[in-house]
Amino acid sequence: MYSKAKYRKDYKTPDFTATDISLDFQLDPNHTVVTATTQFQRLNAESTELRLDGHSFQFAAIKLNGEDFTAYKQDSEGLTLDLSEQSADKFELEIVTNLVPATNTSLQGLYQSGEGICTQCEAEGFRQITYALDRPDVLARYQVKITADKTKYPFLLSNGNRIASGELEDGRHWVEWQDPFPKPSYLFALVAGDFDLLQDSFTTKSGRQVALELYVDRGNLNRADWAMQSLKKAMKWDEDRFDLEYDLDIYMIVAVDFFNMGAMENKGLNVFNSKFVLADPQTATDADYLAIESMIGHEYFHNWTGNRVTCRDWFQLSLKEGLTVFRDQEFSSDTGSRAVNRINNVKILRSAQFAEDASPMAHPIRPEKVLEMNNFYTVTVYEKGAEVIRMMHTLLGEKAFQAGMKLYISENDGKAATCDDFISAMARASGVDLELFARWYKQSGTPELTVSDHYDEKAHRYQLIVSQMTPPTADQMDKANLHIPLKIALYDQSGMPFMLLNNGEVVNDVLNVTQTDQIFEFQDIKSRPVPALLCDFSAPVKLDYDYSTEQLIILLKHAQNEFVRWDAMQMLFAQELRRNLSLYQQGQPLEFSPEILTALGYVLANYQQNIELTTLILTLPKETEFAEDFKIIDPEGIFVVRDFMQRTIAENLKDALFEVYNQIHLETYRIAAEDIALRGLRNACLQYLAFTETGNTLVNKHYLYANNMTDSLAALTAATKAQLACRDNLLRDFEEKWQHDGLVMDKWFSLQATRPDSNVLELVQQLMNHPSFNFNNPNRLRALVGSFVNQNPRAFHAIDGSGYRFLTDILLKLNESNPQVAARLIEPLIRLGRYDGQRQPLMKRALERLNDVENLSKDLFEKIEKALNS
Ligand code: TRP
Ligand code: ZN
Repeated sequence: MYSKAKYRKDYKTPDFTATDISLDFQLDPNHTVVTATTQFQRLNAESTELRLDGHSFQFAAIKLNGEDFTAYKQDSEGLTLDLSEQSADKFELEIVTNLVPATNTSLQGLYQSGEGICTQCEAEGFRQITYALDRPDVLARYQVKITADKTKYPFLLSNGNRIASGELEDGRHWVEWQDPFPKPSYLFALVAGDFDLLQDSFTTKSGRQVALELYVDRGNLNRADWAMQSLKKAMKWDEDRFDLEYDLDIYMIVAVDFFNMGAMENKGLNVFNSKFVLADPQTATDADYLAIESMIGHEYFHNWTGNRVTCRDWFQLSLKEGLTVFRDQEFSSDTGSRAVNRINNVKILRSAQFAEDASPMAHPIRPEKVLEMNNFYTVTVYEKGAEVIRMMHTLLGEKAFQAGMKLYISENDGKAATCDDFISAMARASGVDLELFARWYKQSGTPELTVSDHYDEKAHRYQLIVSQMTPPTADQMDKANLHIPLKIALYDQSGMPFMLLNNGEVVNDVLNVTQTDQIFEFQDIKSRPVPALLCDFSAPVKLDYDYSTEQLIILLKHAQNEFVRWDAMQMLFAQELRRNLSLYQQGQPLEFSPEILTALGYVLANYQQNIELTTLILTLPKETEFAEDFKIIDPEGIFVVRDFMQRTIAENLKDALFEVYNQIHLETYRIAAEDIALRGLRNACLQYLAFTETGNTLVNKHYLYANNMTDSLAALTAATKAQLACRDNLLRDFEEKWQHDGLVMDKWFSLQATRPDSNVLELVQQLMNHPSFNFNNPNRLRALVGSFVNQNPRAFHAIDGSGYRFLTDILLKLNESNPQVAARLIEPLIRLGRYDGQRQPLMKRALERLNDVENLSKDLFEKIEKALNS
């Protein structure tokens, strides 16, 4: 019934390749005819059988070198052509397929989005358009002709350069495109529709003038500026930092409302989820602006790391994604605050990625076994993949790393490469031995570093005793040692760093941990130091060092490294939560440590030193972040304790919070770093102040006076989380104002779904009938259902199983309409191993109910099977 899983070790070079593909689209939402004419070349002289991938369409006819051809076998996943009569190594196949974009709710292949038509081919969507060698190591030149109704579809776009166009008598018109760069099928794209167009241009450093075109739904032109600015910044940055220049005369971005992910890097024609394009002060928050900048950068950077150098097979996905995430992180860090970006990325890693490694879906950044490729666009492949690149950058330094990039690109330009090709280029260009390091690519799981220390007062000698261990994961029992770069600093009691000396020589602050147990010694340390360990999160590992509260407070107040200060507070919060959780579980009263409150007061009082850092330190980790500290998660307990911590901080620091809140005045809205920082801090204060006796008045006023979405949403959030009297009014006001704007309503849906109210599930169920909700729009679904199952763990894991039943009902529907989105939404349900004996059987029952479905998609099947067998 299902196609079998594929293994990385089974990779074989293709027997045939396609050199040139000509596609003719007669477009219509209800009946599209695609004629694909492909020049094939036999690579393996022995081979007489050509296997083409293809499914989910009506297949009409096939011709070999212009003659009708019938020597094929068709099954649900493709065609097998018998070419034993075909002696020439070069031949042409013409295949006609019929598609119905209007009913394609999977949003893969050719589908209708709003009034337009577009494609999504990564990873294996091209095979839903025509029969093809749909694998990334088959690179062909594409020529595309699109014919469609001119009134409904005035714009007809595809990859590369527009080479011809014309009008037909019946009101239809056509445009022909040619992409000079050979590419794999997953980078093919087509868009047809009516849009507003924002035009600009960029001159590359060698003088090439590039036309920049940004297509948005009619009426949205005033929300397109920021994305265009971001694109130009990204193009310039890639020249400055990586010496990489754009290679075509035109770069197009189209924003669509129906999209399974964030965006797609199709050559010369990026397709974006409109969420990551559209922004104006009234509808987008500061966080939205930054997310757009980073996503625009990400897709642009793929032009070199992804498109010019692509992946040999899908197991190598991190080759392009890990590297491109690293590049977009560096772009954001060079453009904005490095520390803030680092902290936000580390939060994702420690919560989402560590959780994935602890789940039935655990996999190395280069997976070994895949059933449905869509299931491997994960935080592990993307964010941990970027951490692995970052570690190489740490080990090599910027200069050698850039030399490695140059070598990697020159050796692999125009080719389909592997992760090993990348490591090898890095090692050869730098002379750094990366042999042990390469193990990060094949080993899953989160390594644990246990550190203890020893100080010899008389000899002024300090030792760090470091051991590493990676616990088994669902996919891999046996783990070996890794090469872990451990960045450290040693502080004296006043926060001054000691020089790191060994045998009279200054040693690097990055220690190379490579063995099970190692001792690192430092001399001339005049007093017992406070160690800052894993500075800047120099490796994606868990750290276990028995810090005292006093030590952490020293780091929090005095460490020079901003990341270390933030991380110290994270550890203090975690200690506080853990201690109180056991009090809660024993039915004891909760208590907040007064030293920590004092320390927070100190940070707040000194906010002017570093505004963004103050906000980040002050903000309590989310429930899901706290949860990662526990093998067995108590969602109810974590909620209660976190809520207690929040209220206690608010009550104890209210005067200082109020003072800071009042000191910050921002008249007109500007999207500038200083203003974003100030708004962020003011709104962080507001979230606490909402819990104090003046909360209702303050929040209500904040909402009333807000002249931008960041402030409106901050007030709405504060009112909802603190269940203020003004809440219902504000929610209603927001709804009335924005009900016609899906992207803005997503913020509202998401807030509704994360309400602390006990009847939240009932509310969510009602909202699925809200006029602004649309089950087939993944943004709406993620905002409402996704927020409920992922960001409201207490309600989702309700002990009566109601949350699990709710999600299961949705997944049963989504299994048919959009399996890719279904498989993302099921994640919290497959992590049953992290819950207690009451919840686990309920989760299991929900999974079994899904498993019994007859036409279960590969996407869901792969995850459910892993969950039930773990
Ligand atoms: N390659 C895209 C990126 O990283 C993501 C992507 C993969 C994608 N598969 C997709 C986007 C399917 C949309 C739909 O930017
Ligand atoms: Zn990407």
